[in-house]
Amino acid sequence: MSTNKRAPQAEALRFENVTLEFPGSHRPAIEEVSFQIERGTSVAVIGPSGCGKSTLLNLAAGLLKPSKGKVYFGGEEVTAVNSDAAYVTQQTDLLPWLTVKANIGLALKFRKVPKAERDERIAHWIGVVGLTGFEDHYPRELSGGMRKRCAIARALIYEPSIVLMDEPFGPLDAITRLGLQQELLNLWQEQKGTLVFVTHDLNEAIYLADQVVVMSEGPGTVRRVLPIPFERPRTIGTLIESHEFSELYNDLWSLFRSDAKTPDAA
Ligand SMILES: Nc1ncnc2c1ncn2[C@@H]1O[C@H](COP(=O)(O)OP(=O)(O)O)[C@@H](O)[C@H]1O
Ligand SMILES: [Mg+2]
Repeated sequence: MSTNKRAPQAEALRFENVTLEFPGSHRPAIEEVSFQIERGTSVAVIGPSGCGKSTLLNLAAGLLKPSKGKVYFGGEEVTAVNSDAAYVTQQTDLLPWLTVKANIGLALKFRKVPKAERDERIAHWIGVVGLTGFEDHYPRELSGGMRKRCAIARALIYEPSIVLMDEPFGPLDAITRLGLQQELLNLWQEQKGTLVFVTHDLNEAIYLADQVVVMSEGPGTVRRVLPIPFERPRTIGTLIESHEFSELYNDLWSLFRSDAKTPDAA
């Protein structure tokens, strides 16, 4: 049924005039933010440091409540922790007392997936994120990049309906990053989940997203929502070589730049 690409898509996440002001702060972190994400699509959020990108994800995850406006998930207002969402936070909070294997398998254990199936899926994901040989290590024994990969596997393994990722590939080296980006693309193709991710990498935004939400400097507002019209499945190597890619890159870059450079702003 859902194989018809032209069918109207259901809404996954919607922000409606959302303003968030942290207690004791004299200006909002984000202001009057409205946008909508359809189910099964991938959305990148970009913007300068401190413009409220992590705040947006925290609101979507139900960890923060708007001061004004509303956040909806699947048409229902988010009023508590959003248990449909897997969240890879910027800090990558793995459980320090569990091994890599146990961290990755946690959600399956909670969902009472039988041990044999659990072990198989864990082994698969350990391979995908390149942690083979580190199954029995503890988070403190891993590098920052390895912890990040572990957190990504932990979020994706149970095929959540929406995944929120805050700068997921930030601390990874370029080669590992490209490999994981392609892996994530392939996965998204198969699973048709909804993905919202924050990135500083304009290339990554274009490779992975159907839409890019460009935020302005704090207090964060939505400056533009730019569609990325590339067909799927996508292959990063082919995308980079296309003319459309460089056009989109330039569009994004100028949007980004026009914000960073406001020398005579009060
Ligand atoms: N818990 C908090 N208490 C007070 N201010 C906060 C808190 N978290 C974030 N902020 C402020 O809100 C703004 C947006 O932060 P954040 O969403 O982390 O930005 P980004 O992820 O885009 O770098 C920043 O000015 C930041 O200092
Ligand atoms: Mg952040």
